Amino acid sequence: MNALTRTWEKLISQHLQESEKTAKKRWRPEFHIAPPVGWLNDPNGLCQYKGLYHAFYQYSPFEAEGGLKFWAHCTSEDMLQWKFEGVALVPDETFDCHGVYSGSALVENGQISLYYTGNVKKTGEYDYIHTGRESNTVCTTSKDGMHFENKKLLMTNEDYPQDLTCHVRDPKVWKDKDRYYMVQGARTSEDKGVVLLFESEDGETWKYVNRLESEKTFGYMWECPDLFRLDGYTVLSISPQGVEAEGLKYNNVYQSVTTFLDGDIPEVTVKGNFRELDGGFDYYAPQSFETEDGRRIQIGWMGMPDADPYYTNTSLEDGWQHILTLPRELSVRNGILCQNPLKELKNWWNFFMPFENTYSGTPGKSFELEMSGISEQIHIVLAGGLELSWKEAEGIFRMEFTDKALGAGRTVRGRKIENITELRVIVDVSCAEVFINGGEDVFSTRFYPEGEGISVEIEAPGSRGQFCLHREN
Ligand code: FRU
Repeated sequence: MNALTRTWEKLISQHLQESEKTAKKRWRPEFHIAPPVGWLNDPNGLCQYKGLYHAFYQYSPFEAEGGLKFWAHCTSEDMLQWKFEGVALVPDETFDCHGVYSGSALVENGQISLYYTGNVKKTGEYDYIHTGRESNTVCTTSKDGMHFENKKLLMTNEDYPQDLTCHVRDPKVWKDKDRYYMVQGARTSEDKGVVLLFESEDGETWKYVNRLESEKTFGYMWECPDLFRLDGYTVLSISPQGVEAEGLKYNNVYQSVTTFLDGDIPEVTVKGNFRELDGGFDYYAPQSFETEDGRRIQIGWMGMPDADPYYTNTSLEDGWQHILTLPRELSVRNGILCQNPLKELKNWWNFFMPFENTYSGTPGKSFELEMSGISEQIHIVLAGGLELSWKEAEGIFRMEFTDKALGAGRTVRGRKIENITELRVIVDVSCAEVFINGGEDVFSTRFYPEGEGISVEIEAPGSRGQFCLHREN
């Protein structure tokens, strides 16, 4: 351990202890990952190791508005109750001194290997796009799943294709048969977002093999790529920057989309046909992993970079900002990538309140609302100012804030959905995630309800439903 590592660890633990004394509970979710203090962004290094789930995230402990990036670490037995394990990776080497950026985990041979981008911004007259920035690929390992050692610099910008800008990052690594693969997001000198595919025999020496790109430019940079096989499909997930809004589509500052690839790895090609993973306000930089029981789970950042001029998070008043989404189980049905809440959530609820057609009341601060038998319309109002609505005659589902303070600046998002038969809304203190028609369409948002419980008004003729709650015995 070098002196810088020691100093960081001391400063962070003092800061966390100090801020614990004044931490306020009011917007803290009960079963979503949230930072104890400071800023959270992308989920990183998701994995299951010796039965225990590990989730890391991009973390700025000292600045709730974002700053120098570390990796925070959480563990869980059920992906609902998470234990904060402190900060696992700190910027303490010349190759990662301006941020331990996003990356992924590989579990193999009794250890976890974390691959990430070491960010370096040189001091001087640079534009930080074509010059002035280093994007280093780094690996570090742990046998106990808690302490990561021996950071190794695997690649620098010299090892990437030479027609790229300095922006290359977010390695996602996996093993298939006897080979290791890695995808990284990149921005070309012509401002086109692409994904780079690398191959390796040992997980350390990497060779660039292929570039995944759409024929037509779809944004200037593709961040946080993920590539995996699911239900007979090869799925590419990317977070592009610079995509223009198109009617109801692409209304957030940046997007997160998936597409199915043609061909076999490494000779895969991108057809286009991108589909947004989430139609709400707060969803970016998702990452997936495979559980020991074979499920493909994806977790996203329930936040949005550079959303600040449009909307914000009231939790900033309490010195922290942003959370991760609920882990979502992925599957492909009817040619659509579906996302559903992790199955463990069913066991979390232990108290149920059924209703038919209409409801008016205050079920609690965290609950699931399940509805089926929906026919012509739905109108749900959460906390008096977040409306979820759909009319068959119009065929558009909307998530709309009628109370500006409740949404901290969020307005309206919508998506064409011809038919809605069933829906699940998961509310956890300051976030709502809506899963429609078996997870074909999903909407996520943060919101900031005042008071002790969240009121709910429902009008949905013909529907049946129930509220699911978790009550301590
Ligand atoms: C996505 C992202 C990544 C980068 C990280 C830095 O939100 O910009 O591309 O690695 O955040 O925190």
